[in-house]
Amino acid sequence: MLLKDEIIFALLNSTEYISGEELAKKFGKSRAAVWKCIKSLISEGYEIDAVTNKGYRLIESGNIISAPSIKRYIKNDIDVIYYPIVDSTNNCCKRLLAEGRKGEFLVVAEQQSAGRGRQGKSFYSPSGTGVYFSLALNPLLPLQNAVTATTAAAVAVCRAIEKTTDKKPKIKWVNDVYLDGKKICGILTEAITNFEEGIVSNVIVGIGININTDNFPNEVENAGSLDEKINRSLLIAEVCNELVKIANGDIKSFIDYYRSHSLVIGEKIIFIKNGEATPATAIAIDKTGGLEVELESGEHTVLRSGEISIRKQQ
Ligand code: BTN
Repeated sequence: MLLKDEIIFALLNSTEYISGEELAKKFGKSRAAVWKCIKSLISEGYEIDAVTNKGYRLIESGNIISAPSIKRYIKNDIDVIYYPIVDSTNNCCKRLLAEGRKGEFLVVAEQQSAGRGRQGKSFYSPSGTGVYFSLALNPLLPLQNAVTATTAAAVAVCRAIEKTTDKKPKIKWVNDVYLDGKKICGILTEAITNFEEGIVSNVIVGIGININTDNFPNEVENAGSLDEKINRSLLIAEVCNELVKIANGDIKSFIDYYRSHSLVIGEKIIFIKNGEATPATAIAIDKTGGLEVELESGEHTVLRSGEISIRKQQ
């Protein structure tokens, strides 16, 4: 860990003043190095009270995201890697995996310059008003099935939002999270395949949540925000905690939650089949997260992937 991260972690976990000498001793650095880090943290926006003969105390970490501020709320042993800006946190996970990084880890960025959405779309990821992160999951976990991981991620996001706010989000099949008719979160799950062994070696679950974003670019359709004053580090950590909880437990149990939060059951929808827009009615979510639909002919079929849109009632 960087000295700056170690200091902020120590300050986050203390309500008392910690002297520069104590910090220097604890981390095996000079007091001057500690002071340099404190100055840099203050310039990043942390409100740190510095009192002669007493030391330093964190007054307010506000809206700032950092690896220590997330790590403090994470219940499992997951490495957190934070960047002020990256192209895409999913891409970043892929690069780290290609470099040989092992185990589960979380990549978080304040801003993405080339955030990616499903079907080659981009994901608008401005600084300060959202959270953008990707969790690289251990291939041995039950969520190595990308479809299950994607459904589980939507449940994890809704549970984390319900836990940290009084908002009641809904899920539009497969994994878009909606609030008041607007999409507030997108999830992009990617499987990394080891061709030689013919197995999925890693699953990357990338999640973007709009918290206070407005002025979306014109091409972004029907996007909205959580519109809530929220501790962003806590929200990120809670999503990861919920996702890991699902992965470590009985993965079937989250399907009931997914069903009860579905935005589409009973709705008239359109889905694309063989390149054609097909009208249907959404009937149920099956036990693997598939969407059972009734076609206009009365025939039933189960959708396993793809996009649907809800038809506006006349
Ligand atoms: C979609 O709704 O089309 C999926 C959007 C997924 C966006 C997230 S933000 C974090 C992660 N990094 C990316 O480049 N994309 C995902």
